[in-house]
Amino acid sequence: MNVRITGTGSSLPGKILTNAELEQLIDTTDEWITTRTGIKERRIAADGEYTSTFAAEAGRRALEMAGVQPEEIDLIILSTVTPDFPFPSTACIVQDLLGAKNATAFDISAACAGFIYGLSVAEKYLRTGAAKKILVIGSETLSRIVDWKDRNTCVLFGDGAGAVVLEASEGDHSLLSTHTFSNGSYWNLLYQPGSGSRNPASASRTIDERLIYVTMEGNEVFKHAVRSMEEAAVKALDANGLSQSDISLLIPHQANRRIIDATAKRLGVGSDRLFINLHRYGNTSSASIPIALDEANHQEILKHGGKILLVAFGGGFAYGSALVEW
Ligand code: COA
Repeated sequence: MNVRITGTGSSLPGKILTNAELEQLIDTTDEWITTRTGIKERRIAADGEYTSTFAAEAGRRALEMAGVQPEEIDLIILSTVTPDFPFPSTACIVQDLLGAKNATAFDISAACAGFIYGLSVAEKYLRTGAAKKILVIGSETLSRIVDWKDRNTCVLFGDGAGAVVLEASEGDHSLLSTHTFSNGSYWNLLYQPGSGSRNPASASRTIDERLIYVTMEGNEVFKHAVRSMEEAAVKALDANGLSQSDISLLIPHQANRRIIDATAKRLGVGSDRLFINLHRYGNTSSASIPIALDEANHQEILKHGGKILLVAFGGGFAYGSALVEW
């Protein structure tokens, strides 16, 4: 059964936080952030904006492009590390917001690789005939879990959502393959220590010791990110009998310009075949690839029949790739 991407959508907060504004908040400089990360600004959720509201808006736009009504959706898969609540799933809240009353809805937790994991699960439902139309969403409100006093992490992240509609039907925009990988030996290099069952909420511990915020060993994460994204990309190419010269566009997870450039270099992909919007949004975790895909789609740089390689890496470690023939 052929699996197609029939619609893309995204939603970003209106509020922009620039590096110059961060200079007023913490001990940093635009020069440091730009040279170490490539990020110039990021979007930050306002009061009344959450992971579900961005997700629903991105989903609505993807459905509109696909010409699919909310009631036609069989399944909503939402990837996030910043759900509205620990439970119920944010996917259920999005189901309600969209009026997708015939859908089953659940969340996936695979950090920055979550959208690829979502595509992979959706692909299996569609190829087995268990579903016909699926909404896959990556949505994050990372500004609510970063420590705005920690310059090592708070400059890196941003908020937003991206979505695709996947359908089991013949035609173009085919999802050729997905590959997912996990390496749990490194779970504690990038995680949020507090708020779960290991460190439940407590004023003296999770709040005072700042355990409720993202913590990261940046240098270690960096090294693994480059190696793992290369591994996932090569797996996608090999599985489809392709070489790097067949890639029309590489859309990597937008975490850090140096990680993106090192990965592209290892794959032999030049800047003319590399999509980057990191400078405008920072790292939006699982939302980064679907936002980028939607922007590339609207900018009409996705050529008919071109091979688009999506590759992501994040906490877990979880990583993966997807190959699409546009
Ligand atoms: N502004 C100014 N200085 C900063 C800073 C900031 N925002 N953040 C850190 N620094 C300082 C550090 O305190 C350190 O100072 P010191 O030498 O006096 O201790 C110095 O800069 C160098 O820090 P270091 O961590 O070695 O920098 P780096 O070149 O490794 O860059 C990251 C840090 C976080 C940008 C980089 O490690 C990275 O991008 N890692 C991957 C992170 C990531 O993408 N995670 C998500 C993956 S999905």
